[in-house]
Formats: sequence, structure tokens, C-alpha cells
Amino acid sequence: MSNSRKVKIIGTGSYLPEKILSNADFEKMIEVTDEWIVTRTGVKERRIAGKEEFSSTMGILAAKRAMEVAGITAEEIDFIIVATITPDYAFPSTACLIQEGLKAKKAAAVDINAACSGCLYALMMAKAMIESGSAKNILIIAAEKFSSIVNYKDRSTCILFGDGAAANVVSGRGDRDGLEVRSLCLGADGEQANLLIMPAGGCRNPPSYKTVEEGMHFVQMAGNEVFRHAVRQMESSCKECLQLLGMQESSINWLIPHQANERIIDAIARRFRHLPPEKIIKTVKKYGNTSASSIGIALDELLRGGGVQEGENILLTAFGAGFTWGSAILTKVAT
Ligand code: UT7
Repeated sequence: MSNSRKVKIIGTGSYLPEKILSNADFEKMIEVTDEWIVTRTGVKERRIAGKEEFSSTMGILAAKRAMEVAGITAEEIDFIIVATITPDYAFPSTACLIQEGLKAKKAAAVDINAACSGCLYALMMAKAMIESGSAKNILIIAAEKFSSIVNYKDRSTCILFGDGAAANVVSGRGDRDGLEVRSLCLGADGEQANLLIMPAGGCRNPPSYKTVEEGMHFVQMAGNEVFRHAVRQMESSCKECLQLLGMQESSINWLIPHQANERIIDAIARRFRHLPPEKIIKTVKKYGNTSASSIGIALDELLRGGGVQEGENILLTAFGAGFTWGSAILTKVAT
């Protein structure tokens, strides 16, 4: 159907738990220094969900904020897509729990798993559904209680990750200001699945004493190799996304890379030398890597700061387990 229907993000929201886990806390827990963490990753602290906070509850709070900005009610939402690799349960989906929490009774609901690229995969699905006319207002939510799958004795991973959620209301409505989704590209490489994985809990290694004893319910990562792939794939994905619109790097006004590691962000930013540091959005210092939520939280903070002008282009890029990756170009438009 109509490809001319403009798809826009008309509201964003995010939620971060209150509890802070700082590098100083880690110095007391494991063999690590604040200096090592800051120089190798850029992370100073991360947020950790409370005992009674889950991906669903954090997602609901982020969604309420996004809906408030968008000025739409729960009854107007006709689809909910939740990107998470730390769902409340294997099933039912976290999307169904959020649907109930929001009382979005007219919405269909589904979870997707694309790890840290999840919110861009969700955005692609939302865009396609709106363009095809099969939905009008879609809530996409990324929510992660990553602390639930982190081994706090594994210093190569535990220092990196944090919890949080982000939400976007995606709509085809012409009467709302927002960010037009101009270009989106996604990719995957399942050959590299073992480099970033939680090996147990699925049907291949169902929970058992052995899987628990061997720490197979924790995230496991070959950090160095993941780092190299992340830089390479996000760089080429940004390029592909620009080419789709016939745009040059210089047309980008704001860059939001996945917040995995400040060194990765800086490597990608080298392609965008025209951008001053304040236009390269970094939340990694205060939140660490919040997986699927990472670029959504950064986008929400950027918009709430009020600095984005009409006509400006924002480039989002992400990379995660699978491997999966993707990029999107959003342009601020007014009605
Ligand atoms: O969200 C999905 C995408 N995720 C990512 O993109 C993460 C990508 N990877 C990374 O961010 C980095 O690879 C890490 C931060 C995980 C590690 O940094 P690195 O510079 O790649 O360090 P390394 O793994 O090469 O390790 C260097 C040294 C090793 O010691 P030796 O073998 O040189 O003696 C590690 O044992 O640093 C040691 N090390 C640590 N030392 C102090 C590793 N972790 C720590 C630590 N504190 N936390």
C-alpha cells in the first residue's frame, strides 16, 4: 500500500532505576579499578533495577512518558512491540504484561529478540505496519533488566551493563510534530552467535543443576572480538543508511551510537568529524550498556534537552548479539 504515508516518532520516554552501582562499588567487589573501567569503557556508573522492578514494569513507566509526550491514550495504541533479551518470563511475552499494565486493550502485543539492536528492529516493523495501513499508532518499547543475567564475578562483562527502558510512539498521523523515520537498514550474522551468548535457559540447554553450576545462565562475551565486529558493522550500516537517501555524512546533525563502550562510540564518530562532541550523544558514562534500551534512552534524553531543531537529521546505529545491527536516519519535522 501507500509508501507515501510519513511514519514518525511522535513521543519518546525512558525510565532508569534509582539504584546506582558505581565503579567504586566494583572496586570493593572484584579485582578491578575505576581507572581501568573508565579508560577501557568510559563507564563510571550504571543503574540497577530493584527486586520488584522488571523489564515489564520499567517498560510501562517509559511507555507512559512516551504516550504523554505523544498526547495519545492507551486505547489509541493498536500494536505493542517489546525488544528485550531479559523478558519477565520465557512466556507469556513482556509485551502482553505491558499491554495489561497500560490497559491498552485494543493493542496486539509481541516481543522480539535482536539484543542491543532490538529497538531498530522494532522500528522497522512498526514503520512497515504503518506504511501498509495495518496499524495506526504503535508503541515500541525496549526494556532490559540486564543485571538479572550478569555474573558479578566476571569482571570482563559485569562492569559494562546496566538496567533501563525506553519507549517510542510511532505513528502515521499527519497532525503531530515528531521525528520522521526516513531511512532504516538492518543486518545479521548468525555465524558469530557464540561470541555473545547466554547459553542456557532455552531448549538446547534447559535449566539444570549443571547449567547453574557452570554459570550458563549468565551473559558470556568474547569482548575483544565483539568490539571489532561492532565498530565494523555499525560503520558500514551507517554508510548504507546514508546511501539509501543519497546523503553525505556532513548532513547528519546528531549521532546516537549504541552505548556499549565509549571507545566504540569514538571509533564510529571518527567518520563524522564535522560533529562537535556535544552532538555525539553519550550516556554510557552514567548508564553503561543497557542493551536494547541504549539508543532509545539516549534519544529521549536528547529530545528532552530541547536542542534538536526542525529539519535536523539524527543518525542512530546499534549492534548486538546474534550478531544483529542496524541504523536509522530520523528528521525532525513539524506539521
Ligand atoms: O552490546 C553488545 C556489544 N558489546 C560490546 O560491543 C562490548 C565490546 N567489548 C568491549 O567493550 C571490550 O572488549 C571490553 C571492555 C569487554 C574489554 O576491553 P578490552 O580493551 O577489549 O580488554 P581485553 O579483553 O583485551 O583485556 C585486556 C586486559 C586482559 O588482561 P591481559 O590478558 O592483558 O593480562 C584482561 O584480563 O584487561 C583485563 N581485564 C580487566 N582488567 C581489569 C578485562 N576486564 C577487566 C576489568 N578490570 N574489568
